[in-house]
Amino acid sequence: MTETTAMFTSTIGAPISARTPDQPATRYSHITVTSASPHIGAEITDIDLTRELTAQQISEVKDAFVRYQVLFFRDQKISFDDHIRFASLFGTLGRHVGAQTISKPTEHPLVRKFHYDETSQRISGESWHSDQSCAPFPPLGSMLYNHTVPPDGGGDTMFASTYAAYDALSDRMKAYLSGLTATHDGARVFGPGTPKSSHPVIIRHPESGRRGIFVNWDFTSHINELPRSESEAVLSFLYRHIGRDEWACRFRWRPHSIAFWDNRCAQHKALWDYWPNVRSGFRVQIEGTAPPIAG
Ligand code: SIN
Repeated sequence: MTETTAMFTSTIGAPISARTPDQPATRYSHITVTSASPHIGAEITDIDLTRELTAQQISEVKDAFVRYQVLFFRDQKISFDDHIRFASLFGTLGRHVGAQTISKPTEHPLVRKFHYDETSQRISGESWHSDQSCAPFPPLGSMLYNHTVPPDGGGDTMFASTYAAYDALSDRMKAYLSGLTATHDGARVFGPGTPKSSHPVIIRHPESGRRGIFVNWDFTSHINELPRSESEAVLSFLYRHIGRDEWACRFRWRPHSIAFWDNRCAQHKALWDYWPNVRSGFRVQIEGTAPPIAG
């Protein structure tokens, strides 16, 4: 597949480059990669995740993950073993840090159940967030497999590029945010006993080298170096900015689809518009190996 590299002007002024200028377009010859939007997301086809992948496929999927921030796969009837084998290519699998969670454990300690039906009072992840940013080393990535989806649509997941959101900030705002840190308090979402950590507001992705905004509505309580009212105003601007449609894509689930996102440069939010229908699947997470790096 050949990628296109686009340069265009956003409606809010700053030019946005769809791909980093220092990353030449990649030709994928062992998988097929179809971009889902200008800034984030790609669907991977010509791959069977119920089998061992070749070294070339693994290398191309890893490249696509860093480049596109979230990968989508269709028609993959995976078992727990398949799920774990594929996710483990990206690092050590980890456990949820939340004290009280809506998702549930399964018989396998590394696999969590994400199941919602007519008895559900809430679902996980209805606001923009990156997973468990309250952890000292937040998870590198999360891989959600849904085997059952609502019959007449609904239950899509939205993904936003925090790179594109950063790139679109004015130089003055980038300078203002540089060097600030924020508190991410897990108790806001998962109750007492969940970790609380401080991370830089602007981070640099360890693999792509790109800068992104690392605060989110779910976990971030305040910017440490600012007075409370200023922190609230800045965070509220950043949340609105990250959630803009211009750098988001929307994934429509079908049965046996997978979404695999990079928590270091993407935020996501799940839509609960399908009650009382069923949406059901399993998620694993790949552990981070270091705290986020200041950008
Ligand atoms: C989550 O991980 O926050 C839930 C995502 C989803 O169910 O689409």
